Amino acid sequence: MATERTLSIIKPDATRRNLTGLINAKFEAAGLRIVAQRRIRLSQGQAEAFYGVHKERPFFAGLVSFMTSGPVVVQVLEGDDAVAANRRIMGATNPANAEPGTIRKEFAEDIEANSVHGSDSAENAAAEIAFFFTPDEIVG
Ligand code: CMP
Repeated sequence: MATERTLSIIKPDATRRNLTGLINAKFEAAGLRIVAQRRIRLSQGQAEAFYGVHKERPFFAGLVSFMTSGPVVVQVLEGDDAVAANRRIMGATNPANAEPGTIRKEFAEDIEANSVHGSDSAENAAAEIAFFFTPDEIVG
């Protein structure tokens, strides 16, 4: 298995409910290492740019509004097959479809306020990591 990095975001619904530590514990228990982490407030421009691939979707405006509604924690997770591993740990986008024990099953409020984001491919992970972090901010 290849060591990989993926971009994770703990979303405003989770920071509001003080769930950062519980979510990080799930990553670490599953063998992923948090090699960069920063708590920030996304600007409207940052949220629109980060989710640009979804700009034609009906949920885009709501998503940008939600993602700027409170603090987020942006982080880089590192480990074996980190992109796929993180997607297993997160569970399905819609918490109604998420497996027991996943972050979204346990913590997500609904399909929009779904507690975490994770990159969906190695290629997107590289771009999403570079969106938030410079190489010297990632300490493996
Ligand atoms: P995320 O993994 O961050 O990628 C895109 C986000 O858009 C997704 O998680 C949800 O927060 C949100 N999203 C996806 N589908 C819908 C939907 N049908 N309605 C509202 N929000 C959605």
